[in-house]
Amino acid sequence: MIERPRRLRRNPQLRGLVRETSLAVEDLIAPLFVTAASDVKRPIASMPGIVQWPVAQVAAEAERLAGLGLPAVLLFGIPQEKDALGKESHAQDGVIQRAVREIKRAVPDLLVTTDVCLCEYTDHGHCGIVNGTPGFVDERLPDGYVLNDPSVELLGRIAVSHAAAGADVVAPSAMLDGMVAAIRSALDDAGFIDCPILSYSAKYASAFYGPFRDAAEGTPSFGDRSTHQMDPGNAHEAMREHALDVAEGADMLMVKPALAYLDVIRMTRDRFPELPLAAYNVSGEYSMLKAAAAQGWLDERRAVLEVLTAIRRAGADVVITYHAADAARWLID
Ligand code: PBG
Repeated sequence: MIERPRRLRRNPQLRGLVRETSLAVEDLIAPLFVTAASDVKRPIASMPGIVQWPVAQVAAEAERLAGLGLPAVLLFGIPQEKDALGKESHAQDGVIQRAVREIKRAVPDLLVTTDVCLCEYTDHGHCGIVNGTPGFVDERLPDGYVLNDPSVELLGRIAVSHAAAGADVVAPSAMLDGMVAAIRSALDDAGFIDCPILSYSAKYASAFYGPFRDAAEGTPSFGDRSTHQMDPGNAHEAMREHALDVAEGADMLMVKPALAYLDVIRMTRDRFPELPLAAYNVSGEYSMLKAAAAQGWLDERRAVLEVLTAIRRAGADVVITYHAADAARWLID
């Protein structure tokens, strides 16, 4: 007698009944780019279907996403002006602060998560203050090196300004040491003890962020991010990064990117079962699928749902994805 696992695959009802992994709209977060530098929406060439929204239109878009059943958005801002210290990142009338207020007024129940970083706000495009900036010179370190401690202090100020505007969750993405602790204590000191931190705890120095850097206009003008983001060859080190962020007070963990790091998602889920885990299906992952679909080389709907299911199967509770609106429509019909 031979084993017949095919018995359980005979029709959609049986397959649905025994499916191990579920994918639901409630698991998805939609990233949104908001710009202070334009009054009209701007398409992003390398990310078909994704645009930079002017502040005046972002609430309407958020309302549309909420109408599809999506529980949350993740905001990225493009400021009016950039400078060495990224001042607009924590300004009361900065692009994100205004966008958060608009969205919370229009759709109070939609969770607003904000990316906390400096790369979109600095004129050099780095995620912190770089060595050699007037007032920030350390002879022992190379010029242009991202200075850790002054930068995390600034990240704390950014997080507080987002929480003050009404953000529900802050998501620091700079991969600097002590970042979560600095943000937690800044939030607590300012009275935002209930504002959770979704830390980009294991974020790799990845080529798959390329299209995002067009979208957020945050390409470094020199050097790269490999002195703070993780080396793609390392998985055990990601466990160290997670453990530090847990100790510093992270409420949720993240692995980013998702597809080339499914093993890291699985390892994280097994090692840190007590914390919710997000995975970021990043811009390059989106763009390559969209490009293949545009050529007719892939069935977009099937490929997207398969990818998102795989990220969930690897162990992510939450998936941050540019496919969120499309997936939401496909999942409900
Ligand atoms: C900012 C940030 C980046 C992404 C999210 N937050 C870019 C980077 O680190 O270079 C990438 C997201 C994506 O590619 O979709 N630090």
